[in-house]
Amino acid sequence: ISDISGDIEHVLYTPEQIQERLRELAEQVDSDYADSDPLLVGVLTGAVMVMADLSRALRTHCTMDWMAISSYGSGTQSSGVVRILKDLNTDISGRDVLVVEDIIDTGLTLSYLVSNLRSREPNSLEIMTMFRKPEALQNSVDVKYVGFDIPNEFVVGYGLDYDGRYRNYTGLGTLKPEVYS
Ligand code: PRP
Ligand code: MN
Ligand code: MG
Repeated sequence: ISDISGDIEHVLYTPEQIQERLRELAEQVDSDYADSDPLLVGVLTGAVMVMADLSRALRTHCTMDWMAISSYGSGTQSSGVVRILKDLNTDISGRDVLVVEDIIDTGLTLSYLVSNLRSREPNSLEIMTMFRKPEALQNSVDVKYVGFDIPNEFVVGYGLDYDGRYRNYTGLGTLKPEVYS
């Protein structure tokens, strides 16, 4: 077996630290949405892990839908080009929508997504991300729930990929240099 964790150089967050933070965020969501039935919108593919864990940590009823948006391609740098690959199945007009992301890096994906979703006139629109990089702040997207602010390094795990792999690494870490070559 080629062990995934053998490719990790530095662990930024352990699975336990991620799950503990997630429980805190879930408590906030439970109290903020006490009187509504939020629609969680996960951004494929990176958000699958946080959606699965967040939704199960909630006590409130919720529904889920998915959008596929891509800005990265296969490299480690954002291309800056945002495309909708799959739209929602749900009409969000009048709904309380919570967008769920794994990471906000430059913020380009989210600023595009937020203006797109706002035009569909939801009752409310908030954002949760498990991780956020400092550059995201330049794109002035208002994020209500942030798991961890992290340094500007290329990281993988908990949904975040390098060339499609490492999403199933359960912590968050940097890759050994030899993995890229
Ligand atoms: C990653 C990540 C976010 C986005 C953040 O997705 O999951 O959705 O990039 O980057 P930004 O803030 O610079 O726009 P990616 O486009 O790699 O697609 P994926 O979720 O399928 O990996
Ligand atoms: Mn993504
Ligand atoms: Mg990606």
